[in-house]
Amino acid sequence: MSPFRADLLAGKVALVTGGATGLGLEVAGLLGAHGARVAICSRKEPNLEAAVAQLRGDGVDAIFHVCDVRRPDEVAATVEKVVEQFGRLDIVVNNAAGNFPAPISGLSANGFKAVVDIDLLGTYNVSKAAYESWLHQHGGAIVNISAAIQYRGMALQAHVVSAKAGVDALSRACAIEWGADGVRVNVVAPGAMAGTEGVARIAGEDLQAMPHIPLQRAGTTTEVAQAVLFLASDAASYVTGAIVVVDGGGWLTSGESAPRST
Ligand code: COA
Repeated sequence: MSPFRADLLAGKVALVTGGATGLGLEVAGLLGAHGARVAICSRKEPNLEAAVAQLRGDGVDAIFHVCDVRRPDEVAATVEKVVEQFGRLDIVVNNAAGNFPAPISGLSANGFKAVVDIDLLGTYNVSKAAYESWLHQHGGAIVNISAAIQYRGMALQAHVVSAKAGVDALSRACAIEWGADGVRVNVVAPGAMAGTEGVARIAGEDLQAMPHIPLQRAGTTTEVAQAVLFLASDAASYVTGAIVVVDGGGWLTSGESAPRST
């Protein structure tokens, strides 16, 4: 049972990148459940087909486009098609991200670049295309999915913390430049979410004991998606350039041991 009104996003159109799986699909479903028509994009068509079937089964008016957010041409075509098919664009959620654990010494320049390109350049590409093709004339809300690990740093995640710190900074810059056009740009910074690919890649499935998290547990994708819904909605009409950390308070403390030299 959602704590938000069911018609909170009635009449709105949302684009969610990386919307076929994990948090992205949860966000797409939650925005759709509150009245938005939803477009999702990712690189993998089979995942997109399955996700759209699921969303439609839940009563959401959903479409998909295959798109690698690293490619400005594909991004521009996707945004154009969404506007063409749905007639407008109100909400953009930059959720697409790449992640794998690797020590700095085991990370190639290309490996570092791959994650920065997906997370940071991808957020730039999609935000810019959406702004130029629609939002600058009509206003809207952009919500960028960041992380909380960059606030302290994290072993095996140098590429990711670098990319996510960039997403935070880019979001503030966009908020400043586009505020006068009625475009709000905010960040949701999730902590560990049970059952997501990202957490499985970094932490394995060992999320049972999380004593360093003040709220004493991993979060759920629904709890993170609710913050996205708030920021995307008119309930956040005076909120821009903000970072909403949704991590149970976890980044404030640290359960991580420093790696030892071997
Ligand atoms: N450790 C070290 N380097 C790695 C790696 C790992 N586990 N996985 C990928 N890389 C490196 C590759 O070696 C390559 O560098 P190289 O050319 O110097 O060898 C570089 O990253 C790009 O890899 P590639 O597989 O060609 O990139 P891609 O664009 O197809 O994949 C990734 C993107 C790298 C992010 C990949 O991990 C991925 O597709 N992940 C799935 C999505 C995901 O991460 N979801 C979780 C979201 S939180």
